[in-house]
Amino acid sequence: MNNCHLLEISFDYNGQKQVITPVILQDENETILVDCGYPDFVTFLKDAAFSKGVNLDSITKIIITHHDMDHIGSLAALKREYPQIEIISYEFEAPYIEGVEKSLRLQQAESTLDELPGEEKENARQFIHFLKSIEPAKVDRTVSDNEELPWCGGIKILHTPGHMPGHISLYLPASKTLIAGDAVVIETGKLEIANPQFTFDMEAALSSVQLLLDYDIKNLICYHGGLFQGNVKEALIELVHSYRSKSSSVKEKAMQIRQLDNHKQAPLDLLLLADPSQQLVEEYIKRGKCFAAYSGENVVGVYVLLPTRPDTIELVNVAVAVDHQGKGIGKQLVNHAVRQAQLLGFKTIEVGTGNSSVAQLALYQKCGFRITGVDKDFFIRHYTEEIFENGMQVVDMIRLSQDL
Ligand code: COA
Repeated sequence: MNNCHLLEISFDYNGQKQVITPVILQDENETILVDCGYPDFVTFLKDAAFSKGVNLDSITKIIITHHDMDHIGSLAALKREYPQIEIISYEFEAPYIEGVEKSLRLQQAESTLDELPGEEKENARQFIHFLKSIEPAKVDRTVSDNEELPWCGGIKILHTPGHMPGHISLYLPASKTLIAGDAVVIETGKLEIANPQFTFDMEAALSSVQLLLDYDIKNLICYHGGLFQGNVKEALIELVHSYRSKSSSVKEKAMQIRQLDNHKQAPLDLLLLADPSQQLVEEYIKRGKCFAAYSGENVVGVYVLLPTRPDTIELVNVAVAVDHQGKGIGKQLVNHAVRQAQLLGFKTIEVGTGNSSVAQLALYQKCGFRITGVDKDFFIRHYTEEIFENGMQVVDMIRLSQDL
């Protein structure tokens, strides 16, 4: 962990002692700060950096893990004082950091205000007032999932949604270090999911922890808790297991993905979004396993797994209700399908999509699938009607697969 400085900042927040851990990464050309504390934290940051032999004047970039007030609070003030700083965030987070979109935390606080009892309502009002006071700052550069930044020995961006939909963590392969942001926190020496009350999607948060298991992590730095002491992999596995075993946990109730007992319950209208042939859909739901995503009583998404060869299973249909698309449900379904395939003991999961299905190709690759081939003229051979999508005729099937 050469040139990786943990800035432990202790302070009082609402009468309680708190500690946050922004990080500074350095090489001969760059000094990069990861997250920057609450509003009015510039002096804290200066002092903490100085104690590590770093002058805040030398900061060239700030990478923001997500737009919560304790991560971006001093961003605008830092940019004012050090205009050379380049502000970097995940693409999804930029409009919130810039104040173009209303902060998700603020939306959450406002939407629950009316349900709160008297005294809590007053605290919530103060919290809302505080959130509204967070100064926006312009993002100079956005990054995407799996992007590798060349600075400080290499920084890989990992999209780790859950606590917030656009949350990222930073993996430094050279030192096997993970800067987790709030993807995980340390509480009394143990890894935990950040406060469930502030975690937008618990299922996605757990999937993100599961994703971290793919990385060789020697040093794990949490914004709340600092450097983790212990075996990181074991602790991450234990964390996932502890949540998964609480199957009736309130924490997992936000959106539930369940297997349907009977193919007759399959939501045909949703399935037809992904495949216009009712005959083909009906055939594969009879032979496959159909899973549906529920928000309360409503089915908001679906997918089907169909065993095709002894060790191979195919994801034959993923669809999200039109008014719920673009909120990360598709990604959760695909990640869930991959885990199910793993649990069922398959070695490979495959999926196919049209040559024109740009968003679907992005989604599958973001979930770890790689393109393995092209089934030429598949849609001409198997469908009687010509299909058009994104201004292109769907003719070939792009085949993708993932080893489990
Ligand atoms: N370029 C790059 N990335 C893109 C993209 C594009 N053009 N379009 C989508 N993506 C990304 C999103 O940014 C997101 O990644 P991120 O989380 O890293 O930001 C990811 O793809 C999926 O987004 P998500 O919000 O999870 O998708 P969704 O809930 O809208 O569901 C479908 C995706 C495809 C399932 C949904 O649009 C759907 O039901 N479509 C109709 C049915 C269908 O076509 N099914 C697939 C059959 S092969």
